[in-house]
Amino acid sequence: MNHLTFDQLSVNHDIQAYLKAADDNFAAIGYKEHGFRHAQLTSHIAGNVLKFLDFPARDVELARIAGYLHDIGNAMGQKEHAQNGALLTLDILENLELPYTHIFPVINAIGSHEDKDVDPSSAIAAAIILGDKTDVHHSRVRLRDLATLDMHGRVNYACQRAFLRVNGETRVISLELTIDTEICPVMEYFEIFLSRTKLCRRASRALKCEFELFINKDKFL
Ligand SMILES: [Fe+2]
Ligand SMILES: [Fe+2]
Repeated sequence: MNHLTFDQLSVNHDIQAYLKAADDNFAAIGYKEHGFRHAQLTSHIAGNVLKFLDFPARDVELARIAGYLHDIGNAMGQKEHAQNGALLTLDILENLELPYTHIFPVINAIGSHEDKDVDPSSAIAAAIILGDKTDVHHSRVRLRDLATLDMHGRVNYACQRAFLRVNGETRVISLELTIDTEICPVMEYFEIFLSRTKLCRRASRALKCEFELFINKDKFL
């Protein structure tokens, strides 16, 4: 069995090229950061979610891999990037001779990470949704001129801190956000991120956890 690790995979030149191409495509249209930073953060959070909930080390490693690769389909275009990313990942992981018992959970998680109306089909799929959908942060916004930002950009730009706290004992997953309300009112966060919040709750429940949302220390969920 190939014991390819996340650390080996993250320095693979093909993967780095896909991530750069995906981010370059988004930069060209002024869309927020979708490159190495988002890939690394999603990977890190997805792995930690399963680690803190005492999942086996294999699942933690596969969640890290899936989190890192989840958006490479954007190299081909945003539409259907989840399915395209799953196919690209299949190709990459086959070439790296990862066993199919490891490949299938990863491509399933990637291919379903934007599904809004169905429950995540595995813990790995749930973990990357939590890593991906909680990445709200001012550093992702490329345009620094506030007047030109749309509401989506404003909400991200206003977010000074986003932290996902996972309590394995109480089985509560909490998203803690600090939002500068001078830049955007909390209401705008919900206008933009209501569907993501619902996805996070659905993913948490798939992990047999409750989901909480705190904005500026106030509990909204
Ligand atoms: Fe995505
Ligand atoms: Fe993403």
